[in-house]
Amino acid sequence: MNDAFDYARYDRIRPIRWTGDALELLDQRKLPFTVEYLRCTSSDEVAAAIHALAVRGAPAIGISAAWGVVLAAREVQAADGPQADALLEPALQRLNAARPTAVNLAWALARMRASLLTAGSDWQQVLEQQAQRISDEDLAANRHMGELGAALIAPGSGVLTHCNTGSLATAGFGTALGVIRAGVAQGRIGQVYAGETRPWQQGARLTAWELQQDGIPATLIADSAASHLLKTGAVQWVIVGADRICANGDTANKIGTYQLAIAARHHGARFMVVAPSSTVDMATPNGEAIEIEERDPAELLGIGGVRTVAEGISAWNPVFDVTPADLIDAIVTEKGVVEKPTLALMQQAFS
Ligand code: MRU
Repeated sequence: MNDAFDYARYDRIRPIRWTGDALELLDQRKLPFTVEYLRCTSSDEVAAAIHALAVRGAPAIGISAAWGVVLAAREVQAADGPQADALLEPALQRLNAARPTAVNLAWALARMRASLLTAGSDWQQVLEQQAQRISDEDLAANRHMGELGAALIAPGSGVLTHCNTGSLATAGFGTALGVIRAGVAQGRIGQVYAGETRPWQQGARLTAWELQQDGIPATLIADSAASHLLKTGAVQWVIVGADRICANGDTANKIGTYQLAIAARHHGARFMVVAPSSTVDMATPNGEAIEIEERDPAELLGIGGVRTVAEGISAWNPVFDVTPADLIDAIVTEKGVVEKPTLALMQQAFS
């Protein structure tokens, strides 16, 4: 990003704050009308906050889990890192089990663990530095991806995004929403559409709020309006984030992403996935191998905690789906752009 980019205007929200003795999470269950931080002082409180979606978005849950390890370390006495590693194992397992699909969670925990295994008597300090590094690197990656992704977009384009991939889902700036921020600032994006993202409404409650905070004009659509919108030709790029990108480029993201990719291909719009390399999982060969989280049907049976569906009906609530690589035009990470991803191209970029 050139020096003139106004981050103070486009990057003001911070969902995760480390105070030195607690982790404060901007409680995303309460947005947009209540802006309140949830204070966590133990790793189990962090795991519970991740599971309950007080903090959500693949990079944000990885960063939160890293700080959760720092909190767990406060409850352990050990002479060095390897000794601490054995004692921290149960807390790390509970953090890892908080949500299954986004690989950033396991990635961040593995990275914390690796730093512990080589640490001496200053292992607590090493963990704290590692958590801060994970957070700082995510912010830097997002800013770089903003530049790389925006460069793919022709001036005056319309874009459609899904879920929330902004500051709230990351250390700051965002992945897909970072590209949109950069693209708007550069005049490449003339119109932003955001899908409401049923059932949890990350688009309606969170993305719309972030765009409004930045003063970026945007139009909310019902998820079911997407194909109709694409048919009008108003959208040149569908831009989304990711929870796990497999070795062959198949990509898990918020439920509803797959149908957008199909509709984009049908109507000649292009499809961009934006995620830090911490979301790339070369150990998972393809989308079939990804565990898709299924959440409480209650999320689907009401809105904002108010039941809207007759009693007695059952509901199925998978919260992610997999977009096959052949529907993806570009995967943007901080390492560069992989166009028309295949196993060979992914191996070239990430092995
Ligand atoms: O269930 P959520 O809200 O955690 O799902 C979030 C998404 O699917 C995002 O698109 C993804 O994590 C990328 S966020 C930069």
